[in-house]
Amino acid sequence: MKIDKCLKVLGEKDNFLMRNFQYFPLVVKEAKGSIITDLDDNKFIDFLSSASSLNLGNSNQIINKAIINQLNKFSQYCIGYIANEQVIEYAKLLTSVYPGGIKAKVSFANSGSEANDTAIKFARAYTGRQKLISFINGYHGSTYGAISISSCTNKMKNGLGPFLPEVFFFPFYGNDINDEVAERESTKDLEEAFEKYLPPKEVAAVFIEVVQGDAGILPAHPIFIKKLYNLCKKNGILFILDDVQHGFFRTGKMFSIEHYGIVPDGITLGKSLGSGLVGSAFLARSEIIDKIGVPGQVFTLMGNALTSAAGIAAFNIYYSKEFQDILEKNIKLFQKLGNNLKENQPEVITKVRSIGMSMGIEINDKNDSNSTYKIIFRCYEKGLILVSIAGNILRVQPPLNIEKENLEKGFNIINEAINDYKNGKISDEVLKYKQTW
Ligand SMILES: Cc1ncc(COP(=O)(O)O)c(C=O)c1O
Repeated sequence: MKIDKCLKVLGEKDNFLMRNFQYFPLVVKEAKGSIITDLDDNKFIDFLSSASSLNLGNSNQIINKAIINQLNKFSQYCIGYIANEQVIEYAKLLTSVYPGGIKAKVSFANSGSEANDTAIKFARAYTGRQKLISFINGYHGSTYGAISISSCTNKMKNGLGPFLPEVFFFPFYGNDINDEVAERESTKDLEEAFEKYLPPKEVAAVFIEVVQGDAGILPAHPIFIKKLYNLCKKNGILFILDDVQHGFFRTGKMFSIEHYGIVPDGITLGKSLGSGLVGSAFLARSEIIDKIGVPGQVFTLMGNALTSAAGIAAFNIYYSKEFQDILEKNIKLFQKLGNNLKENQPEVITKVRSIGMSMGIEINDKNDSNSTYKIIFRCYEKGLILVSIAGNILRVQPPLNIEKENLEKGFNIINEAINDYKNGKISDEVLKYKQTW
């Protein structure tokens, strides 16, 4: 594969940009639907969806049209001062599908991190309490509030404190434990804390990704969520869902919490909220959002008209019968392909966790800590983009509307890459590109 142009551009990257991950020497030239093209015109199937921020695929033509149409009218006008129809319409649509049909309102922001910071402020304002609870391995973002309630790696905290005080972390229980254990253990530490050192009447909110994303795509055990929710209700603690990564039908439903049948007090959204444009939101019961007065929570570009226009167009696609039919078929195929892969590769794949169109494939790295990277790199060389999370887990999140052939081709490539790895065909040479966790 020729990658001269990509390498030339990447040669300049670290001179001008802060350091970040670069899993492979790819520079995007163009991306359409589920295909990314690099500067050297190599083509790749996209199993990353820009970190689940392009659930309807790259450069979706219907959304592009809506953006251009809006751009020709006006791009944005600060809603902190003057309203526009687009943001009201988008808020109306988002709240119309709030779980449980309860009356909700929106406070927009720009990133998932900001949405979580927004939620922290509203939770404190509404409850008059300060303490916050979050779950180990959760990721809620990089701003000071959001990173304060995150606990997936110290690499995001080393030397950057102090963080928000009064944040308490408890274990997260995934659906990979049995019901009996979940019933007996899952809120034991929390209940003990409530009795001994963490007065529940001082806790404003619980923040949780019910499908932990960066922890390796781990859906919570339903008994854990039910018990946690009941504890929140009993003690007047807000239950806030972080659906930044798993909202917008990534799990097959608009909100991941719909798999658990409970109604959260608030939901944070980001990533696919703007369908490629910058945007995020905190949705919550109306009385919570009404609690902060003007100008208690405002960002100049929040709920801007372009993002709202893109979001409205995307919302109409998500709720169309055509999309829902595609999604249903894709989820069935995705799950089948994941199971087949695991059966084909028992020595290399130790676990597959999945929900909807989100999958974490755990690679056995006991004897070789580079195994995950080598597999990812060989996938790249064979024309598939995916990354690793939580060390040894392949993150598989293709566009929800990916074509059947590309979905199948992508899983075939993972299988071939694993075969190449097992047969010692991936040389240590590729490690020179390794810039991952
Ligand atoms: C669950 C979750 N919450 C919050 C965030 C932060 O979003 P952003 O990167 O847009 O600030 C992320 C990003 O990966 C996420 O996965």
